[in-house]
Amino acid sequence: MKLILAPMEGLTDPIMRDVLTHVGRFDWCVTEFIRVTDSVLPEHVYDSYCPELKNGGKTSAGTPVHVQFLGNNPEMLAANAVRAVQLGAPAIDLNFGCPAKTVNRHRGGSILLDEPDVVHELVKAVRDAVPEHIPVSAKMRLGYLDEKHTLDNALAIEAAGANWLTVHARTKADGYTPPAYWEKIQPIREAIKINVIANGEIWNTQHAKDCQLQSGCDDLMLGRGAVTTPDLSLCIWENVHHPLLTWQDLVTLQIRFLNGNYKKAMNMVGRYKQWLGMMSKAYPEAKLLWDEVKRIKDLNEIILKLQQTI
Ligand SMILES: Cc1cc2nc3c(=O)[nH]c(=O)nc-3n(C[C@H](O)[C@H](O)[C@H](O)COP(=O)(O)O)c2cc1C
Repeated sequence: MKLILAPMEGLTDPIMRDVLTHVGRFDWCVTEFIRVTDSVLPEHVYDSYCPELKNGGKTSAGTPVHVQFLGNNPEMLAANAVRAVQLGAPAIDLNFGCPAKTVNRHRGGSILLDEPDVVHELVKAVRDAVPEHIPVSAKMRLGYLDEKHTLDNALAIEAAGANWLTVHARTKADGYTPPAYWEKIQPIREAIKINVIANGEIWNTQHAKDCQLQSGCDDLMLGRGAVTTPDLSLCIWENVHHPLLTWQDLVTLQIRFLNGNYKKAMNMVGRYKQWLGMMSKAYPEAKLLWDEVKRIKDLNEIILKLQQTI
């Protein structure tokens, strides 16, 4: 089994990757998508999305960070992938899942799933451009508005030379509404020889087992569940159905997050409240703290309140 921390724009940013790979056990994580249009992005953009490139392409816990791109220009995706590899990216991932209107309007993300030939062209351009020892992968949904091209896309991605494929088991039209159709990954897995990683709605150990059983995939990508329950990966590895971390452990983790300072302009208060809101679903202590800090704007005041919970 492999467990992978999902790319999530505005959520699994470098600080979150640092804390979650510090506390959990992931085989790798993936950056938020980096949008490519008509140029090779300057180094500071790479630094901002993936400061781990300056650390051998790994988080401080030693977990590799794959760089994800989104776009529809084969030459520019290829050139940026080469640049990312020069800067230290251990692997490249291509996004064919983003449901955002602005992204889709510019023919990026999940809308490309209506054009399997284009998907093939983009993956092939990147695969052909980066050195052979660097994996190139793709992440897709089941489709854009429907599932008529699910297998065409999977076959196109394989034929283009991708090393593996991650499938978020919903269409763009399904959005993020449960359920995720894990069983719909099974035919994809059977149709292609490259490894398939299953993703979507894994919030606990039982879900992980059910997803493996229904999809036939050993390897899982964890998204919101891993942020809501930071020890989710450990629970799945250990096959336990109860939390392994105490609230006190989590407080230490949250302080590490709050002290993370990779981008000065970043709104840490907002970011932290977003995380706390998610953790409130799993931890009563987080819910109580959320009620106390929701109107506080000062970071140090929030840290003080957090420390007072133990
Ligand atoms: C806030 C948010 C941002 C996301 N950003 C990305 C992204 O940048 N790249 C990507 O491939 N998927 C992105 N996704 C999709 C996730 O990687 C994942 O496929 C999806 O959340 C389903 O998994 P989950 O149910 O475990 O969260 C995002 C999802 C969320 C909720």
